[in-house]
Amino acid sequence: MNTTKIQEQFSGLYGDGGVLYTAPGRINLIGEHTDYNGGFVLPGAVDKAIYCKIKPNGLYKARVFALDLNEQAEFGLREEDKPKEGWAKYIFGVCREMNKRGREIAGFDAVVSGDVPLEAGMSSSAALESAVGFALNDTFNFGFTRQELALIGQATEHNYVGVKCGIMDQFISCLGRAGSLLRLDCRSLAYEYVPFFPDGYKLTLINSCVKHNLAVGGEYNKRRESCERVVAEIARKHPEVKLLRDATPDLLQEMKDRTDATDYVRAEFVIEEIQRLLDACEALQKGDYETVGRKMYETHDGLSKKYTVSSPELDFLNEQARQYGVTGSRVMGGGFGGCTINLVKADKADAFLKGATEAYEQAFHTKPEMYDVVIGEGARKI
Ligand code: GLA
Repeated sequence: MNTTKIQEQFSGLYGDGGVLYTAPGRINLIGEHTDYNGGFVLPGAVDKAIYCKIKPNGLYKARVFALDLNEQAEFGLREEDKPKEGWAKYIFGVCREMNKRGREIAGFDAVVSGDVPLEAGMSSSAALESAVGFALNDTFNFGFTRQELALIGQATEHNYVGVKCGIMDQFISCLGRAGSLLRLDCRSLAYEYVPFFPDGYKLTLINSCVKHNLAVGGEYNKRRESCERVVAEIARKHPEVKLLRDATPDLLQEMKDRTDATDYVRAEFVIEEIQRLLDACEALQKGDYETVGRKMYETHDGLSKKYTVSSPELDFLNEQARQYGVTGSRVMGGGFGGCTINLVKADKADAFLKGATEAYEQAFHTKPEMYDVVIGEGARKI
């Protein structure tokens, strides 16, 4: 992204100096709603990011300008100083979480801006948390590791935004690597990079342009509560089960009669999805993209029918993908709107993207957006 405007706005408001930082949004190839269940995920950072230019002001308060909203927020850094602007709560939360970990922020001025599509399921909020976290950490020499910065971002969501998210989005935004997906064990936080160059295929997102906001309606948190209830029930007889990651289809089956039917199918989806990710990773290692694609379709079906986080628009895009012989397609991220991720043979890509987006526009009177996925770097100073 061209950052000239950020630089100009910054010097106009706060004068000379300042350092520019950035952190990316993400895709996730497979492994959805598995992170807060201690399972695995396979995300990659993208080339769309949030940028933050910052310098200390010594005033024990923050003055932040959101360029894309043309809005300024000014807030103190104590718990009672929570700003009223929704977007500023992410920044305030990061400051508070750093403070809780024993660091004092002596005040700063900043301009933030970015090109991660908002509420598209590409983790613009994690990108904001990570960009600000990385910037503050470097500016004030706090010495947090990237992993700690990810946990600070996640805690911000929990405590200042109200989304009880897992660790995937913040982790990949802080630790992403160009050209690689990251296979993360969300229970131990052990991870490995998986080079991803699917020769002869394209990876493309189609944004339904139905806004996805996980805080609205609390549907995301309700999914998490379902999973926790099922774990509590299984643990009555099998105390070693602490997360759905530890459960098996047999253990789940055992308590079917004692479980709410909705909770049951949600847990079933998660247990299947954790296994699906492992199968997809094995296929990836062999360069078997056809199997990866099949798993993606299975994930979509599970997210749509069992976890019920899809939408008519996303189901429509998925159906289009099937009709055009796309290798794999599914709703990506938390769901309830946002994008589908599509793994398509290069020679089929143009016809699919043209045909599917035209059909979508006709059906829903909304023009979808398309983004070719480029796997980029994690948070950094520019
Ligand atoms: C959102 C959350 C993540 C994860 C995904 C679903 O993006 O922030 O922690 O749970 O949904 O996989």
